[in-house]
Amino acid sequence: MEWRTPPAMNAPPLARTDLLAEIAQLKRERQAVILAHYYQAPEIQDLADFVGDSLELSRRAAATDARVIAFCGVRFMAETAKILAPDRIVVLPDLDAGCSLEDSCPPAEFARFRAAHPDHLALTYINSSAEVKALSDIIVTSSSAERIIRAIPPERPILFAPDRHLGAWLMRRTGRTMVLWEGTCIVHEAFSETELLKLKALHPGAPVAAHPECPGHILEHADFVGSTSAILKFALDTPGDTIIVATEPHIIHQMERAAPHKTFIGAPGADGRCSCNICPYMALNTLEKLYRALRDLEPRIELPEELRRRALVPLERMLAIADDRPTDLTPAPMA
Ligand code: 13P
Ligand code: SF4
Repeated sequence: MEWRTPPAMNAPPLARTDLLAEIAQLKRERQAVILAHYYQAPEIQDLADFVGDSLELSRRAAATDARVIAFCGVRFMAETAKILAPDRIVVLPDLDAGCSLEDSCPPAEFARFRAAHPDHLALTYINSSAEVKALSDIIVTSSSAERIIRAIPPERPILFAPDRHLGAWLMRRTGRTMVLWEGTCIVHEAFSETELLKLKALHPGAPVAAHPECPGHILEHADFVGSTSAILKFALDTPGDTIIVATEPHIIHQMERAAPHKTFIGAPGADGRCSCNICPYMALNTLEKLYRALRDLEPRIELPEELRRRALVPLERMLAIADDRPTDLTPAPMA
């Protein structure tokens, strides 16, 4: 294929229409696929080839035959894509797009947590670094976790990291006791119970759909709890025409696209109208940075091969259990 020279690095910023045209052109030239999470800005969701939850994005990354994966999400998601598709170039528009859950669980402390519970199976939420994944037995996402816990023999004790709210919700759902890591998502922690109750009173009968990263005092007012994709499905399928959404509000873009006749209201934060429920990490990715990532094929996600191979084991176990394929649950060797 012939490679065109896109506008130079030091060229003046492109107008929005030129940016969209350049991204489309570069996508073809680089043989790239654009994968986006629901928490990305609408303009990014609209030009993505696929928008989904963490599990669906992992599956798409593993299955793609594109040469380049432009991952519009946070770093742990792009790292997961690289672990599953090592021969693809994976670019993330902003390498600083981290996650408070990942930050709450440094690998050395997690290794000590594991070492203190040698007989436990380590179940780790996908919102974690590649190093922590490599120290784990099975990775879970919010959409696969319940099924995975139910597949674990009842006599096996479980460690769950890093989200204590998701862990507590899973314990309530499955009746399994787990030892929880104390991490939280700053975005889902910011919902206010008082403001949610006021909103419910204003919209009597409107169901509340919440992500399991929300604290228990929010989840107890929810009519439905599930992953981002499951919340989207609930919002579209539920017969009511007004739905209160307790997760990052950019997902409402997909709801409004699919059901413009319904009203979707984002659950409020502390003062009833702050934008504290917008994920600041996801917001680091912009159209301009996506354009540059496709143009320069940077910033790239690179992982040492030995680390990637170790992190792949618990990820493949997740995909196998989620697909009902048999898998061996021998604990990961301690690093
Ligand atoms: P989902 O897997 O439900 O998309 O969640 C990812 C996430 O980071 C939620 O904060
Ligand atoms: Fe991490 Fe929370 Fe942002 Fe999801 S919403 S990426 S868990 S900080």
